[in-house]
Amino acid sequence: MTATAVAYPNIALIKYWGKRDEALIIPQTSSLSLTLAVYPTTTTVSLLGEGSPHEILQDGTPMPEAAAAKVARFLDHVGELAGSVRSARVETSNAGPTGAGLASSASGFAALAAAASSAYGLDLSPRELSRLARRGSGSASRSIFGGFAVWNAGNDDLSSYAEPVDDAHIDAAMVLGIVNAGAKPISSREAMRRTVETSPYNAPWVETNPGELALMRDALRRGDFTEVGEISERNALRMHAAMLGAVPPVRYLTAGSMALLDAVAELRRGGLEAYATMDAGPNVKTLCRAAEAPAVRDALASAAPGTEFVIAPAGPGVAVSNADAQADAAPGVAR
Ligand code: DP6
Repeated sequence: MTATAVAYPNIALIKYWGKRDEALIIPQTSSLSLTLAVYPTTTTVSLLGEGSPHEILQDGTPMPEAAAAKVARFLDHVGELAGSVRSARVETSNAGPTGAGLASSASGFAALAAAASSAYGLDLSPRELSRLARRGSGSASRSIFGGFAVWNAGNDDLSSYAEPVDDAHIDAAMVLGIVNAGAKPISSREAMRRTVETSPYNAPWVETNPGELALMRDALRRGDFTEVGEISERNALRMHAAMLGAVPPVRYLTAGSMALLDAVAELRRGGLEAYATMDAGPNVKTLCRAAEAPAVRDALASAAPGTEFVIAPAGPGVAVSNADAQADAAPGVAR
């Protein structure tokens, strides 16, 4: 009846941008990500009685209304799956910034899916948990797993889930450049909807992404870091190109983001392999070999004084502890 889960954000190398089904969160295309070992979300769900509203707290205070409504709908769905009409108390906290394009919704809904399903007594497989997390936020489907994960777009609730990439042979890390830790001006949900509905570049984005994913999987299998990096950087730029084509345009990248893109290119010219990726915010995440992360961080810090850089090694999948079962429950479903 009470469970706590810890989940980590993930950053996509092949991006998810655009839904085919808004209600079920079925994406237009499959995506592939690296789960990070920084900025976890910790969420505890405890069941209450019947008929009272859900209690949803973030860092000890009531969660802002729109976000709380999303969480309440999610809890209703979990209750339905479990055949329960009891409400729940949720206490969540993010170690990193919320809503800043640093994947707080991925770690958030992965942790919520794991804690809520456990509190409501559901015994879900990792795949079922991934499908459940997807209903909260698409990218959360991938944070169920550690390391590299691929979210198969599928075409319905059953076929749209993430799974680990078991044959990746690169040891990668990311250096997060925190250009701005504030909440984004437009949610990724709204921005991707606008892209799908109005951008003439949405169709080519959808057409070319499966080929890019296939190239990425092959490069990971072969351990070809250069190829992985080049595909990642161009995939992020293509996603931003698609949204820049929307009406009105969606532009998350700022002058600070562009300066970091220049700095990353400069590192490459100097022989340090680094590749940039950007999500629904101005922050630039730099993919590099794990062993070179400190050198990449130092070089970026001297190129962009005043910007905070955080090294993020590859991280684990979601882990749950169940207070009622004396904290010995799922040892995590990480890989
Ligand atoms: C740019 O998963 O936050 O980070 O499904 O509407 O909740 P919803 O969107 P969300 O979008 C993530 C978009 C992205 C790319 C990615 O993570 O693949």
